[in-house]
Amino acid sequence: MKLLIVDDDIKFRDQLVSLCEFEHIDTQVADNGLSAQRYLEQETFEAVVMDLNMPGMNGLELLRWIQEDGPALPVLMMSGYGEINDAVDAMKLGAQDYIVKPFEPEVLFARLRRIIDNQRLSRIVERGRSLQYGWEGWIGNSPQMMAIKALIEKIAPTPSTVLLTGKSGTGKEVIARAIHQHSPRADKPFLAINIGGVPENLLESELFGYEKGAFTGAAGRKIGLFEIASSGTLLLDEIGDMPLHLQGKLLRVLQERKIQRLGGTRDLPIDVRIIAATNKNLEELVRQERFREDMFYRLNVIRIAVPTLNERQEDIPLLVGHFIQCFNALIGKNVRGIAPDALRALEAYDFPGNVRELENLIERAVILADTETITLKNLGLTPPIARNILYHGTLQEIERQAIAEALLRWEGNRTHAANELGITRKTLISKIKLYRLE
Ligand SMILES: Nc1ncnc2c1ncn2[C@@H]1O[C@H](COP(=O)(O)OP(=O)(O)OP(=O)(O)O)[C@@H](O)[C@H]1O
Ligand SMILES: [Mg+2]
Repeated sequence: MKLLIVDDDIKFRDQLVSLCEFEHIDTQVADNGLSAQRYLEQETFEAVVMDLNMPGMNGLELLRWIQEDGPALPVLMMSGYGEINDAVDAMKLGAQDYIVKPFEPEVLFARLRRIIDNQRLSRIVERGRSLQYGWEGWIGNSPQMMAIKALIEKIAPTPSTVLLTGKSGTGKEVIARAIHQHSPRADKPFLAINIGGVPENLLESELFGYEKGAFTGAAGRKIGLFEIASSGTLLLDEIGDMPLHLQGKLLRVLQERKIQRLGGTRDLPIDVRIIAATNKNLEELVRQERFREDMFYRLNVIRIAVPTLNERQEDIPLLVGHFIQCFNALIGKNVRGIAPDALRALEAYDFPGNVRELENLIERAVILADTETITLKNLGLTPPIARNILYHGTLQEIERQAIAEALLRWEGNRTHAANELGITRKTLISKIKLYRLE
């Protein structure tokens, strides 16, 4: 993180710089508005701390420039004691916060952290919003997802059969829909059938339909899914659950693009794009002779292996922003983001239920959130799970972090936190003092 400090008071500025150094914050100093402008145009900063009163271009003028022409950065205004009115003007002009000199370093850093976190949160939510557009709510910026996106764009225009494999909740159905949406069939039906969810004796007639009198109880003609999906796309979900005797029939559909209704005699040509999905290991099923090998090869023309959420953790912030947007709209709330420690806990969690589980977590958290920000508590991750958090930094920083988070998890209860950390309550209290965690 890099901070731009703008102040004409050299002594004060130098003090601030060394305080920042101590907190491992990079800084750049400018002693007036004009040189600040130059730095802002040439470098990227995460925030600006500026003095209100400076010769030449003063703080308010610089702030106005940042708002109108400069980079969208959070600004923390500093003012002397007698300048409160100007500070209020600064807030009206769009400064995120102001602080009156002289101040305690901790107060400055706490305020800075807050405005930077807020900025990050609103960025996450906005990213979610912009990405939602055009890709049918399909979120993902990780290299794996970008590669899948490129593949979808390439194969969507063709009529080829696609096989989607991946763990439960990774987004196979979302991808199937995206393929349909990007194909020339987009304005035709997209239908999905969960093979494993239909009783075996009904599956065949669901797929192929039947003629009147085909069997006892067949009072009229029934049109099957292959016909209903005509000119469109049919997703055969959980293809691994397809009974062997029906696999032979399906193979014929894939090869000859023809079906016969049950009890019928006529071959009906069909024009359906078939997408098959499974969370099972089809190769393994083939080995066990529970899945026909010829069928596997026929399906496996274009294969998309959807990674687990764990394998693309970098998508988590975007997905979180996306789901917050969705559930705000659905539930009628106005959550704007997620606390940094809560986001970190999500990034450390291993999501056995993948995107679906994340979606459910966020839905719950949006409902539970009392403020505009989702907290660690709202996520309801139990302490042992949230504990996998990865820390970075010096040993001291790691210790501080671990203590801060243990306190958070136990809602400030020092006995429990000390217990979890394996230290005495007394040691914990002295460390709380040392790291100023009160
Ligand atoms: N990339 C994504 N962007 C946005 N939402 C997603 C994404 N991937 C998955 N989801 C959401 O996660 C949930 C699960 O996705 P989906 O039903 O496609 O998973 P699946 O792989 O078919 O799971 P299963 O194997 O259990 O059927 C859905 O609500 C979906 O909207
Ligand atoms: Mg599915």
